[in-house]
Amino acid sequence: MAGKKEVDYIYSPIDKIFRLSFGEHGDFSGAMYDGDFTLKLEEAQQRKHNYIIQQLHIREGSKVLDMGCGWGPFLKQVQQRGATGIGLTLSEGQAASCRKNGLEVHVQDCRNVTPAMFGNFDALCSIGAFEHFASATDYFEGKQDRVYADFFEHAAALIPKGGRFFLQTMVFGKNMLPYDQISLRAPKDSDAYILALMIKQFPGSWLPYGAEQILRNAEPHFKLVAQSSGRLDYIETIRQWRKKFYAFNIEKYLIYLSLLPKYLTDSDMYYRAKALAVSPNKICFEREIMEHYRLVLEKV
Ligand SMILES: C[S@@+](CC[C@H](N)C(=O)[O-])C[C@H]1O[C@@H](n2cnc3c(N)ncnc32)[C@H](O)[C@@H]1O
Repeated sequence: MAGKKEVDYIYSPIDKIFRLSFGEHGDFSGAMYDGDFTLKLEEAQQRKHNYIIQQLHIREGSKVLDMGCGWGPFLKQVQQRGATGIGLTLSEGQAASCRKNGLEVHVQDCRNVTPAMFGNFDALCSIGAFEHFASATDYFEGKQDRVYADFFEHAAALIPKGGRFFLQTMVFGKNMLPYDQISLRAPKDSDAYILALMIKQFPGSWLPYGAEQILRNAEPHFKLVAQSSGRLDYIETIRQWRKKFYAFNIEKYLIYLSLLPKYLTDSDMYYRAKALAVSPNKICFEREIMEHYRLVLEKV
């Protein structure tokens, strides 16, 4: 499983850069354009929030758990509607930032949350975190299904029968390669190289194989209420992210500069920088090596 060390390594070092690019409560997951690419990124993220609020039946007084809350964009929406939101993250930087901004966020692995920790909830969401729940090692050792099944068992114990869970995640798509073909030594534009770069960007993380693998493991506890693909919307989201990450801000550019020696001397950091420049996840969506789903589940 991707543990705290790996997840923290992905998100905490970019904490300041992220907030300077996207604001204190920026979303770091695919937006919902529904094909209308005239929308601004912020409008498409708001559309996603509205959809989740509606699907989860969140109203004043509801209690919601956000599993993998990032910088708290959805928790903020929950708060603005007079509901109570609790967020979980494995990034110390994100948790500190959320708390500073008045959100209740804990550094806690959401795969093993029990009602004894934060009580019961009316609804659950997990937006762009499921990608980190299993590792390549889990896949090799045949444990990926077990990781997901355990997670769903824990999640189901937190909400009543009929309670809903919104889950948004990337998955491997129809053009995914066998693992042994993935290599940083492959030609630079090949699928094999692009995937290798993505693994460097998200160490310790391995995606589910299609929505089928997710639903199969959720099934004893949840039924599917709605499913939509966010693949094309994610491509546009990443296009907009790139503009914002590069948009000039003196403080941000000084941070980029200060990181330069590290990028030149540390090969992991070098590949992370390269991944930021190339956006392997955008290419994987374009080539259908990866898909992306929004799933609305209901506890049976
Ligand atoms: C791509 S960010 C998405 C953040 C946020 N949901 C959003 O839409 O902006 C992934 C988040 O998942 C969290 N995460 C990953 N694995 C986790 C785990 N096992 N337990 C808790 N949080 C986790 C990370 O710490 C990070 O906050």
